[in-house]
Amino acid sequence: MVFYKVVAVSELPPNSMRAFTVQGKEILVANLGGKFFSIDNRCSHRKGDLSKGKLEGEVVICPLHGSKFELASGKAISGPKIGPVRGKTPDLKSYPVKVEGESVMVDLPA
Ligand code: FES
Repeated sequence: MVFYKVVAVSELPPNSMRAFTVQGKEILVANLGGKFFSIDNRCSHRKGDLSKGKLEGEVVICPLHGSKFELASGKAISGPKIGPVRGKTPDLKSYPVKVEGESVMVDLPA
């Protein structure tokens, strides 16, 4: 396990999220009421930028076609809606997060 420092706790207020590129990987880090989570930042449907989407409770909604992903697990709980049809999209990867002092650290594959 290799944890990388991503952001200071004070720079990511509760109920906010931001994208970061760490080790060449684009991840989303969210602070849900003081608990931090990290998943891939690009939607598994057509690579929508999830950091520009909407945070709804413990779920992020893709800004392009509305797929919904659980921030704790990366699980796709609802697929893209194009026209009247809602499709399916694969789950995203999630990454372990820990807080050390003032730093939010994310475990990314080397
Ligand atoms: S790109 Fe995210 S739902 Fe289509």
